[in-house]
Amino acid sequence: MRGFKGLKMTMAAALLASTASMAVAEDVEVLHWWTAGGEAAALNVLKEDLASKGIGWVDMPVAGGGGEAAMTALRARVTAGDAPTAVQMLGFDILDWAKEDGVLGNLDEVAAAEGWDAVIPAALQAFSKYDGHWIAAPVNVHSTNWVWINKAALDATGLGEPTNFDELVAVLDKMKEAGITPIAHGGQAWQDGTVFDALVLAQGSDFYKAAFVDLDPAALGGAQMATAFDQLLKLRTYFDDNFSGRDWNLASSMVINGEAGMQFMGDWAKGEFLKAGKVPGTDFVCIRFPGTQGSVTFNSDQFVMFNVQGEGKKAAQAAMASAIESPTFQAAFNVVKGSVPARTDVPDTDFDDCGKKGMKDLAEASANGALHGSMAHGHGAPAAVKNATYDVITAVVNGEYSDGASAATALADAVAAAQ
Ligand code: GAL
Repeated sequence: MRGFKGLKMTMAAALLASTASMAVAEDVEVLHWWTAGGEAAALNVLKEDLASKGIGWVDMPVAGGGGEAAMTALRARVTAGDAPTAVQMLGFDILDWAKEDGVLGNLDEVAAAEGWDAVIPAALQAFSKYDGHWIAAPVNVHSTNWVWINKAALDATGLGEPTNFDELVAVLDKMKEAGITPIAHGGQAWQDGTVFDALVLAQGSDFYKAAFVDLDPAALGGAQMATAFDQLLKLRTYFDDNFSGRDWNLASSMVINGEAGMQFMGDWAKGEFLKAGKVPGTDFVCIRFPGTQGSVTFNSDQFVMFNVQGEGKKAAQAAMASAIESPTFQAAFNVVKGSVPARTDVPDTDFDDCGKKGMKDLAEASANGALHGSMAHGHGAPAAVKNATYDVITAVVNGEYSDGASAATALADAVAAAQ
């Protein structure tokens, strides 16, 4: 009797599943913060891919690199009971949403059918899955410890690509002498955090993990952290007077047009250079932040699916997720975005030299235990801790500390209080 009932249940479930997958996919409403030139160009690759499958796109852009404003807008939508179909999201923010009962959707069926478990790296799955269920489709891997240098400005210094902090300072001094702004920086908390992430990573891969992933108080408040803050104090002397509040893509433009020498930024900056028609190796140079060669801090943009009502909407989520994970789409999109594929089985053939280096560095760092979630980009620790680090880092950038040791002490205190 039980067996028969079980059989009936299975048939009912199968019928339901086939109805869901047969439902006609509706339009997708997508909340994202990809509003800069290179970002919009990459997003177009996705829109067009979905359009070719008959899925329309309702755009909900919320400008602001790092996604802080987008996350505020999302909270308001969900509170109003009107969640978008899919939302661009980073790291621990995804897990925070997943903890709220019944708020997110489920991509298990499409993930199983397409074998995502085998091709999406574990470091990404840590944020794409919750409680064993797929809740998000990762679209890329960005790494954040890059420097984007105007090639003519570097050549004019007569120096080579800097490989450590002292060499970096020597190049910056020469650029200053040449009358250009050595560092194009945007004074926003997440950008301050991006620069500081690189300085902490330069103190060593194990140190980065101890401080920004394991949140070890001794690492957070110790001598190496003090050195990283002292170096941040040094770097801020190479910013121009108008850095405060500047958007990251405007800082990229300064390097693109030769007004500034270099920018410390994740590889979404490359999207801006490409959009401006610039060629890697000819017009600009991409190097790992001096002292971080061999290590990578990463973030991954993922499209998180919310628990929408209606089979047409659920079908659209599955179709969008499937489109995102297709290997050909992964290559086409990431070539434009500046990032690298979120799957390990996509060849690097279509990528430029910076992209090829990005893929190689990522694979090597991953194999060597030197791949870490970026603190500044929500992959090191949850938002409360990230924001606590931002507060101290931004205070240093704004000249509120005059020595690294007191900043390190403040950082350890702030992170302890945020947990
Ligand atoms: C990051 C995001 C990137 C990039 C950047 C600037 O948070 O992961 O895709 O676009 O913001 O908007």
